[in-house]
Amino acid sequence: MCDSQTWQFQPGGLSDDQLRDIVARKAQGQPVGEKRPSTLQILNLLAESGLEQVIVVDVTAVSGLEPTLDRALELGYGVVLANKKAFAGPWATAQRYFHHPRIRHESTVGGGQPVIATLRYLLDTNDPIHEIKGQLSGTLGFICQQLDQGVAFSTAVAEAKTRGYTEPDPREDLGGLDVMRKVMILGRMAGWPLETGDITVESLYTPDLANLSVADFMAQVAVLDEVMSQRVAAAQANGQVLRYLAQVREGKGVVGLTAVPAGSALANLKFISFRTGRYDDEPLMICGKGAGVEMTAAGVIGDMLALVREEF
Ligand SMILES: NC(=O)c1ccc[n+]([C@@H]2O[C@H](COP(=O)([O-])OP(=O)(O)OC[C@H]3O[C@@H](n4cnc5c(N)ncnc54)[C@H](OP(=O)(O)O)[C@@H]3O)[C@@H](O)[C@H]2O)c1
Repeated sequence: MCDSQTWQFQPGGLSDDQLRDIVARKAQGQPVGEKRPSTLQILNLLAESGLEQVIVVDVTAVSGLEPTLDRALELGYGVVLANKKAFAGPWATAQRYFHHPRIRHESTVGGGQPVIATLRYLLDTNDPIHEIKGQLSGTLGFICQQLDQGVAFSTAVAEAKTRGYTEPDPREDLGGLDVMRKVMILGRMAGWPLETGDITVESLYTPDLANLSVADFMAQVAVLDEVMSQRVAAAQANGQVLRYLAQVREGKGVVGLTAVPAGSALANLKFISFRTGRYDDEPLMICGKGAGVEMTAAGVIGDMLALVREEF
């Protein structure tokens, strides 16, 4: 088990007590263990120790782990990812990870909701995907619900940050890039070789706030309150509420604030819907709690068990 700088390794496996100790240490901000080798050196060590049926699990949020994933696959290992970055990079490098028999990535979209498994089943059964739509950010869903209740945008952002719903820099959520990566993963799985230019993303903050420190951004985000409250009021005057929705169809994606009827399923559910050849007039929907550490961990463990069962 590794963190960014350190690790603990035993070829025979870490005991439950050791794993619990690591979790407790990380909760207190301490390292996993001793300073660690690079991830590529770690893979070589694993290969030398003769371990079989190894699964490499990436639950970081870092970019640039492709050489590590490639080496793991080359060694015949399984790969499980909650990290979206490798799947959302340029198509030329990312395409080799899609539909790979030894890669699982359920938690990259929808946390613990079985979104990837459902899409895989639709594709396996030759059901053409016409449109994928959903509310793909728990953080932005929370902020939109606060806006419904008349809370100022800056207060909603501060509250989401205090509750730990946002990334340390809330602009990572507000800019829509995380949602764009999810759309890219779903769209690419569905058969469209999307690049970032194919997806229109509405950022919820203005470019002049992009280069501020996090503290300065939080101090100045209230400049957006007036415009946002006007948009909320305009929607409410039509019996609607604002939701941050994502949609992909015919090789193009749109991510941004959309007015939807208040009280409708679209306004109240954390959902992803698939309109397909078979589910044309009545889309297939997956709803329910998705994000959160436990849900995401369940998705990761489910992927690991699926690989083990296949005896790759
Ligand atoms: N949390 C959720 O609800 C959720 C839902 C779906 C998907 N995800 C995805 O899951 C991933 C992790 O999310 P998180 O919220 O747990 O992030 P996080 O709190 O930032 O934790 C990331 C962990 O990765 C470690 N790390 C960073 N670079 C590493 C490296 N090169 N090698 C090994 N470990 C490294 C960090 O170690 P240090 O402690 O040393 O910094 C940290 O412990 C992200 O890609 C996220 O998008 C999360």
